[in-house]
Amino acid sequence: MPTIYLNGQYLPLEEARIPVMDRGFLFGDGVYEVIPVYSRRLFRLHEHLDRLQASLDSIRLTNPHTAGEWESLIAHIVELAESEDQGVYLQVTRGPGPRDHAFPQQARPTVFIMPLAMTAPARELVESGVAAITAQDNRWLRCDIKATSLLPNVLLRQLSVDAGSAETLLLRDGFLSEGSASNLFIVADGLLLAPPKSNLMLPGITYDVVLELARAQGIAHEIRPISEAELRGADEVWLTSSTKEVLAVTTLDGQPVGDGRPGPVFQRMHAAYQDYKHTVMRGKDKQ
Ligand code: PDD
Repeated sequence: MPTIYLNGQYLPLEEARIPVMDRGFLFGDGVYEVIPVYSRRLFRLHEHLDRLQASLDSIRLTNPHTAGEWESLIAHIVELAESEDQGVYLQVTRGPGPRDHAFPQQARPTVFIMPLAMTAPARELVESGVAAITAQDNRWLRCDIKATSLLPNVLLRQLSVDAGSAETLLLRDGFLSEGSASNLFIVADGLLLAPPKSNLMLPGITYDVVLELARAQGIAHEIRPISEAELRGADEVWLTSSTKEVLAVTTLDGQPVGDGRPGPVFQRMHAAYQDYKHTVMRGKDKQ
C-alpha cells in the first residue's frame, strides 16, 4: 500500500481522508503537477515547481510551501515508494470552506502528494506509434493553468478511448492547440513545428525538453501556429507528456500520418530523449 502525504502527515493511501467541503472536491478549485521519477531521481523537478507556482499565482492561492519544503516532501515520497521508476502526483486545493463560489475569507490549502504508477511507453508503442483522433477544443481560455478541474479534458480524452485511439488532438479556430493530456508537434518537409505557448495550451515540461533537444541535435525547428491543413498533411505528428515521453502518432482520424510509421525525425528525437533521460538518471544533469 503506497504511502502518501496529506496536510503534514505521511500515511497509507487507504487511510487518507479529506473533508467533503474541500473546494477541490466541490469546485475542482485546485492545481496539480505530475513529475516523472527515473531510478528515484526526479525529472525536471525545478521546472515542475516553477509551473506549480505559476498555476497557484493564476488561481490566486498562496503557495503553502517553499521550493525547499516541496523538495523534501516529494523526496520522502520517492524514498518510500516501492518502485525505482514512477511518477509523483501533487495537488494543492483551496481547502475546505462553505459552499460558496467566492474564495473563503481564509484559505487553508489542502496539500496532497502520492506516488503514481508510471512506466515509460512499451517498445511496441514506440515502434508502431499510436492512433489519434481530432476534436474541437471546447475548453476554457486558461488552458495554461494546470488545474484539477479537468472535466473538458476527461470528456475529450474519452472520445479517443471510444474510438480505440490513444489521444484526442484538439483544434481551435482551425489551429492545433494540444492533446487532451499532451502537447503536440508536427514535422513537415523535415522541419519540426511546435505551437507557441499561450493561454490555449499547457506549457509542457516535456515540450521544453523536446525543443531543447532539437536545438542540441541541430534539428531544424520553428515555433509557430500550426493549421489544421498542416496537421493533416504532416509527415510526422508527435505527442509529448511526462507520462508518454515522446510518441509518434501514426494514424489520425483513421488515415495514416506520412507512411503510417514513426518517421526519421521522431527516431532521432526519441533516441536523444532516451539518452537525456539516462544522463538524468546518472545524476549528471540538472533535475
Ligand atoms: N498531463 N497538456 C495537457 C492538457 C496535459 O494534461 C499534459 C500532461 C501536457 C504535457 O505536460 P508535461 O510535459 O509537463 O507532462 C500537456 C499530465 C501528465 C496528466 O495530467 O496526467
